[in-house]
Amino acid sequence: MQQVKAVVAMSKGAPVEVVTINVPAPGPGEALVRVQACGVCHTDLHYREGGINDEFPFLLGHEAAGIVESVGADVTNVAPGDFVVLNWRAVCGECRACKRGDLQYCFNTHNATQKMTLEDGTELSPALGIGAFAEKTLVAAGQCTKVDPTARPAAAGLLGCGVMAGIGAAINTGGATRGKSVAVIGCGGVGIAAVAGSALAGANPIIAIDIDAKKLEAATRMGATHTIDSSATDPIAEVKRIAGEFYEGAEGADIVIEAVGRPETWRQAFYARDLAGTVVLVGVPTPDMKVPDLPLIDVFGRGGALKSSWYGDCLPSRDFPLLIDLYQQGRLDLDAFVTEEIGIGEVEQAFERMHHGDVLRSVVVL
Ligand SMILES: NC(=O)c1ccc[n+]([C@@H]2O[C@H](COP(=O)([O-])OP(=O)(O)OC[C@H]3O[C@@H](n4cnc5c(N)ncnc54)[C@H](O)[C@@H]3O)[C@@H](O)[C@H]2O)c1
Ligand SMILES: [Zn+2]
Ligand SMILES: [Zn+2]
Repeated sequence: MQQVKAVVAMSKGAPVEVVTINVPAPGPGEALVRVQACGVCHTDLHYREGGINDEFPFLLGHEAAGIVESVGADVTNVAPGDFVVLNWRAVCGECRACKRGDLQYCFNTHNATQKMTLEDGTELSPALGIGAFAEKTLVAAGQCTKVDPTARPAAAGLLGCGVMAGIGAAINTGGATRGKSVAVIGCGGVGIAAVAGSALAGANPIIAIDIDAKKLEAATRMGATHTIDSSATDPIAEVKRIAGEFYEGAEGADIVIEAVGRPETWRQAFYARDLAGTVVLVGVPTPDMKVPDLPLIDVFGRGGALKSSWYGDCLPSRDFPLLIDLYQQGRLDLDAFVTEEIGIGEVEQAFERMHHGDVLRSVVVL
C-alpha cells in the first residue's frame, strides 16, 4: 500500500479537497499507474454536484495518461514503464455484447477489484472507475492502453474521455464521412472534438453551434466551416439554410450531434437534421430532464436514427493508438484542447473557469 495526494469530492456540492489517500498494491488483473496528466471534464463536476449518483466520497479525474509503475499477477497487456492512456471501457470479452462482436457496448467493463480509501479506511468511488486526480491510481490492467510514448501526456490523456467521446460521436456513432453534413450543438471539449472528428472524416459542411462566441472561434480553428450563435440566431433554420446551400433539397444536416446534455438542445438537434438523418446525444442529461410534447409522428415521419453515444462508441485498443499516431503526424491537434496546465490543488478553480466558458480543458499535471 502507498499513500499519495489526490482530489476528492467529500459531499454533494462541497468544494473538492486535496487529501492523502491509500492506494493498494496491484492484485491479480490490476495495474498501478503513476499519473502524469489528467484533464478536468464536465463529468467530474457532475459527480461533485451529485448528478451521477450519491456514492460519496468520489476520487475525481478520469482523462489521464501516465506510466505503469507495477502490475499484479496474470497481467500481460502492460508492463512497468509502459506509457498508457487510461480508459473506462476495459471490455470483458464474455458478456452478450462482447460475444456477438459489439465490444463497444460491453455490459460488464472491468475496474480494479481492490478499493482505494481515505486514510481512515473510508472507501472511495473513483470517477468512471479511474480516479486520476491522484499521484497514483489503481485500475484494471485492461483500463491501460499503450500508446506512442513520445506523445505529450497532457494532450494524450484527453483521449481518455471527452475528446474520444466527441471524435467517436462523430465518426463511430454518427457515421460522419465525405459527402455528409454535420452540425454540432455545444462546443466545449466534447463538441469541438466532434468538430475535429468530422473534419478528420472529411464531412462538409461542419456547422458549429454554441451560445458563446469564444467557443465558436475555437470550433473554427478545429475545422468548423460555419458557426451559429444560437443565443442570437435560430439554429434550426440556419442549419437548414446552410445544408441546403451545399446539397440541393437538404432539409437539415445529415448528422446532428448534441454535446450539451439538455432537452432544449436535443430538440434543436432533432429538428435540425435532414430526413433520414442521425441525431447523436453525447451530452449527458440529468435524471430529471424530459423532452416534453415531441409529436411521435415527427419521430416516425422523419425516419433516420436517434442515437446516444457513450464514450463515442470507442474501442480504446483500436482507437487510442490510431488517434495518437494522427496527433503525432500533425493531423489531429490535441494540443489545441489543452487551454492550461494546472496543479493538483487547482481543480476547483478549473470548475469555475469551465462554468464561465473560459477553457476547453484545464489539465492537471503531476
Ligand atoms: N457521452 C459521453 O461519453 C461523454 C463523455 C464526456 C463528457 N460528456 C458530456 O458531454 C457534455 C459536454 O461536456 P464538455 O466537457 O464539452 O462540457 P463544457 O462545459 O466544456 O461544454 C459545454 C458547451 O455547451 C455550450 N452550451 C451551453 N448551453 C448551450 C445551449 N443552450 N446551446 C448551445 N450551446 C450551449 C457551452 O457554452 C459550452 O461551450 C457534458 O454533458 C458532459 O457530461 C459525455
Ligand atoms: Zn463484455
Ligand atoms: Zn469525462
